[in-house]
Amino acid sequence: MTGLIVGVESTAHTLSIGFVDEEGKLFSSESALFKPEEGGIHPREAADHHSVVAPALISSLLAREDFNQDDIVAVSFSQGPGLGPCLRIGASVARSLSSYWKSPLIGVNHCVAHIEVGRNQTGCEDPVLLYASGGNTQVIARSGDRYRVIGETLDIGIGNMLDKFARNHGIPFPGGPAVEKLSKKWIESSVNNPELLALPYGVHGTDLAFSGLLTSAILHSKKLPLEQVCYSLQEHAFSSCIEVAERAMAHTGKSELLLGGGVACNGRLREMSSIMCEERGGQSFWPEKQYCIDNGTMIAELGRREFQSGRTTELDNSAIDPTLRTDSSTIAWT
Ligand code: ATP
Ligand code: FE2
Repeated sequence: MTGLIVGVESTAHTLSIGFVDEEGKLFSSESALFKPEEGGIHPREAADHHSVVAPALISSLLAREDFNQDDIVAVSFSQGPGLGPCLRIGASVARSLSSYWKSPLIGVNHCVAHIEVGRNQTGCEDPVLLYASGGNTQVIARSGDRYRVIGETLDIGIGNMLDKFARNHGIPFPGGPAVEKLSKKWIESSVNNPELLALPYGVHGTDLAFSGLLTSAILHSKKLPLEQVCYSLQEHAFSSCIEVAERAMAHTGKSELLLGGGVACNGRLREMSSIMCEERGGQSFWPEKQYCIDNGTMIAELGRREFQSGRTTELDNSAIDPTLRTDSSTIAWT
């Protein structure tokens, strides 16, 4: 058995603790999701949730047969980007664990963790990444020692857009899976010949926008079947992401597309990415759903990469950074 790296994730709605071994084997996380009773996520309430559930998550971890505290070699945590109050709880949990286990602490970039867990799980080497989550929508490619942002949303994240649309119809967070189910219903009820509404399509060069699409979908849903609007919303939003991803592949000459982030759980987005990659002789990849949504294991995996590159974080440098960007962090590994 090789040493273990523990990862703590707490950027937004989820507190999650996972681990990997030094050879990069991933172990599933212990997670708790904060679901607001109504409205969107209030950062303070989510942070309170995280501090309440943290002891139970740690106990569950310690009780696992595949986990042995004597093997721990490092503790990593999401240093940013994310909601300040939530990040602070995760950082405090990680500092405590690192001190208790007398292991080095490693602060990591949450966005880069979505990429590295996907590379680990799928075996793709040098992909363009479509990072589609609640708060983020970015098309990313590595150049030199950074993951560069080729294009991104100019307004809201694609997942937040789906969640807001769902919330407008009384569907609680997370709305994405519900929109996917309703969309499938429209396809089935239309005997696989679904009628598509024309909605605003937000591609601006290599950037994206979703707020006009959201407003228009909400207006249409006052008169038309919700299933049809969900179907049309998905088709427009996902096509725009795939168009930008394809442009990024053409510009960079890369032939792999990796999906990451919670929205990468969506079957239709996966299907579109396969079709596009097949048409241009490339390949598409996505991790298992448990590693698309926020999870501690991906933070552990990036912690492993940093640790094996000789990087750790001193306590004095372990303050959170809510505004960290994908391209702020240098990448020391291949
Ligand atoms: P980040 O901090 O990276 O922006 P996040 O906090 O939004 O991440 P994730 O767990 O990566 O968290 O993503 C959550 C989002 O994924 C939610 O908006 C949710 O609706 C969306 N989602 C989850 N499953 C699906 C699905 N099947 N189809 C579409 N969207 C989905
Ligand atoms: Fe995330």
